[in-house]
Order: sequence, then C-alpha cells, then structure tokens
Amino acid sequence: MTYQIVTLPGDGIGPEIVGEAVKVLEKIAIKYNHQFKFNEQLIGGIGIDEAGASLPEATIEACLKSDAILLGAVGGPKWDTTSNGDRPEKGLLKIRETLKLFANLRPAILYKQLKCASPLKEEVIGDNLDILIVRELTSGIYFGKHERVVMENKKATYAEDIEYYNVEEIERILKVGFDAAMKRGKKAVIVDKANVLATSKLWREVSEEVAKEFPEVEYSFMYVDNAAMQLVVNPMQFDVIITNNMFGDILSDEASMLTGSIGMLASASLGEGSLGLYEPSHGSAPDIAGQNKANPIATILSAAMMLRYSLGLNAEAYAIERAVECVLDQGYRTSDIMNEGMKLVGTREMGELICNAI
Ligand code: NAD
Ligand code: IPM
Ligand code: MN
Repeated sequence: MTYQIVTLPGDGIGPEIVGEAVKVLEKIAIKYNHQFKFNEQLIGGIGIDEAGASLPEATIEACLKSDAILLGAVGGPKWDTTSNGDRPEKGLLKIRETLKLFANLRPAILYKQLKCASPLKEEVIGDNLDILIVRELTSGIYFGKHERVVMENKKATYAEDIEYYNVEEIERILKVGFDAAMKRGKKAVIVDKANVLATSKLWREVSEEVAKEFPEVEYSFMYVDNAAMQLVVNPMQFDVIITNNMFGDILSDEASMLTGSIGMLASASLGEGSLGLYEPSHGSAPDIAGQNKANPIATILSAAMMLRYSLGLNAEAYAIERAVECVLDQGYRTSDIMNEGMKLVGTREMGELICNAI
C-alpha cells in the first residue's frame, strides 16, 4: 500500500528527531512492503521565516490531502516577539483547531530498562507503569477569549484568558477516554478543579452521563492539585486520566518523568476521522538543538502511534515499539536517559540502532 505522510519538522530539535523517525518508517516500508510518500511542509518559526506565517496555507492543504501528519516541535526564543504578533505556537494550535484534532493521547509507559533513569524511587514507579493521559485539545482556556485591556492608569491595565467548554466538547473527549479505558485497565480518573471552576462542574455532570454508556469502567474524580501530587506519590493507581487542555498539558510533562525523560513521551492528536497528527509531547529544546543530543524516541514512538491509529498498521507499530525496547536492552542511551554503565549515543546513532533492530 502507498501512504501519504506530511512531515512538519518545525524548529529547534524538530528536524533532527523527525529525520530519525522518517528513517525508521523507511525501514518499516522495506520490511513490510509499503510505500510511504513523505511531503515536508513548514510550520512554526521556520514557517514565519520562510513563508510569513506559523501555519502557511500550503501546509494545511497538504495535510488535508494526506493520510497522516508527523510533527517535530515548534518554537524558540527567536520568535518570542515578532512584528505582527504571530508566533510558532500559534501555528500548532491552529493546525489542531483546523483539523479538529480534539483528542490528544499521551501514553506514559515505563520501559523496564529505564527504571533507574527516573528521578523517582524504583519502588514508587513499580514494574508496569502504563498511564494514558487523554487531553482535550481544541477548547478550554487555550481557545477561549484572550484579551489585554490597556488603561490610562497603568496599574489598572489587565489581561484575561477565558476557560470555555460546552457539553458537546466535554462529551466527545470523555467518550474517547472511557473508550480507551475499556480497552485497557477499565479505570478512568477525571481530573479537574470542580471545587472552583464552573467548567469543571460541567465536566463532572457530563461525566456522570457518559459513564452510563460504559458501565464496566470504574471512574472517579480528582482535583488537579491532588493529581499532580498523586502522580509522584503513587502513580501506579492510574490507568486512564481524562482532563482538559491545560491540565493535560501540565500533567503530561509531569508524567513523562515517570518514564525517565520527556524525550520518551509520544502523542497522537485525533479527531473524528482517521487523519491524525503525531508528535512528541516535548518542545523544540533550544538548549540542545543542533547538537545531536536530543532523544528521538518520543518521535519514533509517535510514528508508531501513527501507523496504529491513522494507517491501521498494527504489526508495524508493534515492530517499532519492540525495536525501541531491544535497543534499550542493549544498553544504548541518549544523555537524557543515561545511567552508569550504559552506552551514551547521540540522536542519529539512536535512530540508526532502532532501524537496525527492526
Ligand atoms: P522543551 O520540552 O522544549 O524542553 C524542556 C527541557 O527538556 C529542556 O531542558 C530540553 O533540553 C529537554 N528536552 C525536551 N525534549 C527533549 C528530547 N527529545 N531529548 C532530550 N531532552 C529534551 O520545553 P521548553 O524549554 O519549555 O520550550 C522550548 C520551546 O518549545 C518553546 O518555544 C515552547 O513554546 C516550545 N514547545 C513546543 C511544543 C510542541 O511543539 N509540541 C511543546 C512544548 C514546548
Ligand atoms: C504541547 C505544547 C503546546 C501546548 C504549546 C507549544 C502550544 O506545550 O504540545 O504540549 O501547550 O499544547
Ligand atoms: Mn506541553
């Protein structure tokens, strides 16, 4: 079969990590007799520099014609203030919104070889840590009204960001979360701030309704402040966490450290159809960009999610995941997951090792 894949390397370490994921996909293509047609497009800071927009029209057009999209990362200090107010992150939010990718799945899976790479005690992490964070991605405070009102009296100048959710938006993300729970450990924790926020209270009411459709799923609610604490005290209690856009952003970075590094956390952004956007959960890491230091595994595992969710290639996805495990078994580590006695490698070497293990 032939598949059209748009790649959006973006900024910072983006091109380095996407380059390795593409190599891995090319190896899969040979081994399983597929054709992946890669079409590289602009997004983020490089989009601003080369096409005058963080999300150029041509990028959206190409994405709409594709079977799946693989993104690296966007952003960097160079674009923190631009003359027209555009910035790399706006491109990322706009592509999620335009393609209606409302469900962001972020699996925090601990590879047993990396138990000692996490700063948490081994007995806290346990042996089979596997948490799925289901983050709402196209609404909430990210997409509510953002405003700054400048007053004559400087101290009265204010800014506001509105958290907004309607029932339909809550319902559809909860269904994705409950559905995922059904296929896993049948446990869901809905994380909110219902002791303060009106949106969270609505989430709770809608959850009670949606839960009726999934009687086998054991569900509960947890305040986000407690959830942040529970994740490091007793992460083993979690199976699926379902939460809003901003809480999901924050908790997924926190959860990544249970797996050893943010460089291990893959993600899939999905909508109603099969088109999805796959990207590591981390950013463009300007501090290590261009140094062959970035861990490409989160992007490579995101490519595996792409094969599974958008292209229906389960065996191929599994082959990538097993190859990652095999390379970790052999003791190879990028610097973010390095431990005594292990073999330090760079971005390219890690990508090549994973290709060879396929
Ligand atoms: P970041 O995730 O880029 O980096 C945080 C820390 O993690 C840094 O020390 C970095 O070196 C390290 N890190 C991240 N990815 C790594 C990898 N693959 N291997 C090894 N180490 C890795 O977050 P930040 O520094 O807060 O943000 C930098 C830029 O990235 C900002 O412009 C931000 O807006 C953007 N950002 C983009 C995305 C995205 O494109 N999806 C996500 C988060 C942040
Ligand atoms: C992420 C990032 C983005 C987000 C930023 C860059 C807009 O942090 O994908 O986690 O907050 O969603
Ligand atoms: Mn984030």
